Amino acid sequence: MSRSAHPAGPRHADVLPEGHYSAPPADLNALDPKVWARTVARDDDGVVTVGGVDVLTLAEQHGTPAYILDEADFRDRARAWRTAFGADADVFYAGKAFLSRAVVRWLHEEGLNLDVCSGGELATALSAGMPADRIAFHGNNKSTVEIERAVDAGVGRIVLDSFQEIVRVAHIAQSRGKRQRVQIRVTVGVEAHTHEFIATAHEDQKFGIPLAGGQAAEAVRRALQLDGLELIGIHSHIGSQIFDMSGFEVAAHRVVGLLKDIRDEHGVELPEIDLGGGLGIAYTSDDDPREPHEIAKALTEIVTRECESARLRTPRISVEPGRAIVGPTAFTLYEVGTVKPLDGLRTYVSVDGGMSDNIRTALYDAEYSVALVSRVSDAAPMPARVVGKHCESGDIVVKDAFLPADLAPGDLIAVPATGAYCRSMASNYNHVLRPPVVVVHEGESRVVVRRETEEDLLRLDVG
Ligand code: LLP
Repeated sequence: MSRSAHPAGPRHADVLPEGHYSAPPADLNALDPKVWARTVARDDDGVVTVGGVDVLTLAEQHGTPAYILDEADFRDRARAWRTAFGADADVFYAGKAFLSRAVVRWLHEEGLNLDVCSGGELATALSAGMPADRIAFHGNNKSTVEIERAVDAGVGRIVLDSFQEIVRVAHIAQSRGKRQRVQIRVTVGVEAHTHEFIATAHEDQKFGIPLAGGQAAEAVRRALQLDGLELIGIHSHIGSQIFDMSGFEVAAHRVVGLLKDIRDEHGVELPEIDLGGGLGIAYTSDDDPREPHEIAKALTEIVTRECESARLRTPRISVEPGRAIVGPTAFTLYEVGTVKPLDGLRTYVSVDGGMSDNIRTALYDAEYSVALVSRVSDAAPMPARVVGKHCESGDIVVKDAFLPADLAPGDLIAVPATGAYCRSMASNYNHVLRPPVVVVHEGESRVVVRRETEEDLLRLDVG
């Protein structure tokens, strides 16, 4: 690592390679606030700082690769969602995006609730003091043990995902003399504008109970008959990384239609409606996400309007943003190990992590941006591909990017917007050790999830 510029190498392609390259950015040293955590800046030496700590210090103290998470930004975004929805609605942070005990404490302090989808997430939430009645428990195949733990802990709601689960949860609750608050997750037939693998409300998929063909209405019928269940509402989640609100509009219309049918058939007005998460963030400068207050206004208006026309009392709304809260608050800090120019193609920049700390590029063809953060450079933009250290050619972190042509081993580069679904989907592929999550705040850094060690790996391998 060095603050000084390296000599320029012969790796400037005149013709742009195939891919998503547009014109090179006017200033490679600029950090677009859309994609970087809010306290990110460059100091007088051109070194990037976040939360008042510079990346050279972070790399020295914590090593690389590392996820660097800006606590102030996380709290700001969580609070913005809470404030936008107000006292008459609930915001459940989706823990699958990234969960740790520090995050649970921040959420608790900022007045958010928590959505968990496994026994492990539930255990993390409870161990960090999230009150059980502020937890929603999701999943399409919760085990009996998981359901028992959730019911025993007194979670605020279990989101039922199948006919079998309706019976299972009712039975477990009843065996304990309890009445469990539940919602039924329905699929509304909306195809959200997103990658196929992360779209969830079209019908040909594993989540939820279809509205089509009367299945959801039948699920409601059964749930209302069971003593162990208190049916409080209907849940819909239409996908991920969505910018266009029209999918929510159709979803709300259809869910309210079901509420109306339930009122007509059973004389019951269910008091809650959950519209899930899925709101998009900026991974690159081309993305234009909406602010929480715009989303809250749009969703509240849609539900209110639909309920008025169905002559229903407007139910209490809840939402489950994960990515939109944590995604932009972190970046992954890597050290450049090798720089390999391929004539007429592009330069492959290998870093000390890869698909084990960010599988999203390989899995979803996700786009990211990247910047040199340990110094500034006035070298020409070089078409580059940031790749990891894994034994697989699909091990790509940033597919198409520009980096300065004088990039050299030892430089630190960072990939912004990796707060969501990177650490939480990290693996040990090739027995690479999962990076730590380092929180920065007001000039201090601290590890909240430590780096894995070889001892950790060997402890699981019991011979
Ligand atoms: N609620 C439910 C019921 C969900 O299934 C999800 C995400 C969320 C809320 C939160 O969605 P968010 O606001 O974070 O988009 N691994 C994929 C995303 C999978 C999302 C699964 N469910 C990715 O990296 O893009």
